[in-house]
Amino acid sequence: FAQAAPFKIGLILPMTGQQATTGRQIEAAARLWMAQNGDTVAGRKVELIVKDDTSLPDVTRRLAQELVVNDKVDVLAGMGITPSAMAVAPIATQSKTPLVVMAAATSSITEASPFIVRTSFTLPQVSVALADWAPKNGIKSVVTLVSDYGPGIDAEKYFAERFQFNGGKIADKLRVPLRNPDFAPFLQKVRDLKPDALFVFVPSGAGAAVMKQFGERGMDKAGIKLIATGDVTDDDQLNDMGDVALGVVTSHHYSAAHPSAANKKFVEAFQKANKNLRPNFMAVGGYDGMRVIYEALKKTGGKGGGEALVAGMKGQVFESPRGPVFIDAQTRDIVQNVYLRKVEKKDGQLWNVEFDVLKDVKDPGKTK
Ligand code: DHB
Repeated sequence: FAQAAPFKIGLILPMTGQQATTGRQIEAAARLWMAQNGDTVAGRKVELIVKDDTSLPDVTRRLAQELVVNDKVDVLAGMGITPSAMAVAPIATQSKTPLVVMAAATSSITEASPFIVRTSFTLPQVSVALADWAPKNGIKSVVTLVSDYGPGIDAEKYFAERFQFNGGKIADKLRVPLRNPDFAPFLQKVRDLKPDALFVFVPSGAGAAVMKQFGERGMDKAGIKLIATGDVTDDDQLNDMGDVALGVVTSHHYSAAHPSAANKKFVEAFQKANKNLRPNFMAVGGYDGMRVIYEALKKTGGKGGGEALVAGMKGQVFESPRGPVFIDAQTRDIVQNVYLRKVEKKDGQLWNVEFDVLKDVKDPGKTK
């Protein structure tokens, strides 16, 4: 009898350029998922097609079009940055192809197509926790510094609104370009304003540069604390950031140091398969994205189909390496714990050590 056609996942990632670590982490995690769970699901052989969009949204769009029209993929996935996800959303809608967003984290992405399901996080989701923590910990004035695009604008807005609601003062809001940012003039301005703390969001891969210049300009010695979303103390780079990172408090949904059995197993297997590379939050978004696709395909009994697959993705509840999560059936966005963490040295390595948790946080950016 006829062999069932392969089930194709078109995974579009930035494998080169400024966001290359995102691609490297997610591809490695997707391959780890398949190595651990097999490449046959409900009688269908799963085929992963990886494409490099160099994080240019026009390229992401063209690749998505080719994957849908020529390769006839069953699912699109990846999306290293917000502009890439937004560029592909209309293709997902028109072709009724599920688009599993594993990295990009602007709140509004899931509203751009009913075929989008997200397994990463949103900046509003993680920023609010820090704005509650800061004023209770001696931080009364803050300057915000964010990358000037979707996730940065979300982080700035949700951090500032909540911090001001809590009685804090925002001394200034600074935005740096996404491409090739020079942080020096902005940090000089922060030094002059001398707030209690600087709040930062930059995307994965850019945190080390911020940390380095923060140290070189003697900001910490001038009495200015650094607080940030966990994108800045990215586990992909953290261990090479040096002692300037020690004590930095961040909020985020994943730390490689998350103390659960599931995470220990994940980190160990990931490092073993990838020359000891430490998985970051991007890897977890990719790993969980594969889980969501596999489970949805099982629910359709191997039949697939865009609408049936999205229906099978909605409402999934499972334990991720990050902790317990679920895919909200209304918003198709991920609901998860948000952790407060502090950078500490353990056995000679730097880790984001979790010290508090807000459970089951929905994206506060959703209007509906
Ligand atoms: C986005 C990209 C990142 O690397 C990150 O850490 C957060 C958000 C984005 O473009 O949406």
